[in-house]
Amino acid sequence: MKVAIFPGSFDPFTIGHADVVKRASRIFDKVVVCVMQNSSKTPFFTLEQKIEIIKLSTKSLDNVLVDSHEGLLVNYAKKYENATLIKGLRSYVDFDYETSMANVNFKLAGDLDTVFLISKDEHRSISSSVIRELITLDGDYSHLVYDEIYTYIKSLEEK
Ligand code: PNS
Repeated sequence: MKVAIFPGSFDPFTIGHADVVKRASRIFDKVVVCVMQNSSKTPFFTLEQKIEIIKLSTKSLDNVLVDSHEGLLVNYAKKYENATLIKGLRSYVDFDYETSMANVNFKLAGDLDTVFLISKDEHRSISSSVIRELITLDGDYSHLVYDEIYTYIKSLEEK
């Protein structure tokens, strides 16, 4: 079984992330979206909220599951035999960052490959940081997440 792990901080998961998962789910037998910590970022959403958003965004995809891990990605990948990492690439900035991450993971676990899916044009300027900024400054971000996610985030804001 070909398993792909899509790791990220997903703070929050966007329609760009969802598109990468959807496309990967057609290539791999199983796709695991794994919420991880990025030590250079302070989380905005809790782990439970991130997982709920990802589950809502991927619920129509039968071969996708959501998980989380604290610590090194290479250790998480050992859970699966012959797993492949997948990442989306929006621009040369992502390319630079992601190639160095892929090489660090290669050094740590020599047989762990990373496959890159090029983001569609319409998703190239969507980022979790833009969504966080719009939430904080009360701007409209309804076009950057699925309707159900927008409603869910709005319900959190009202609490
Ligand atoms: O969505 P992000 O913030 O670009 O995701 C980055 C992430 C979480 C995948 C990366 O920081 C990560 O793999 N963190 C886990 C710790 C790890 O394995 N680091 C190794 C590379 S230095």
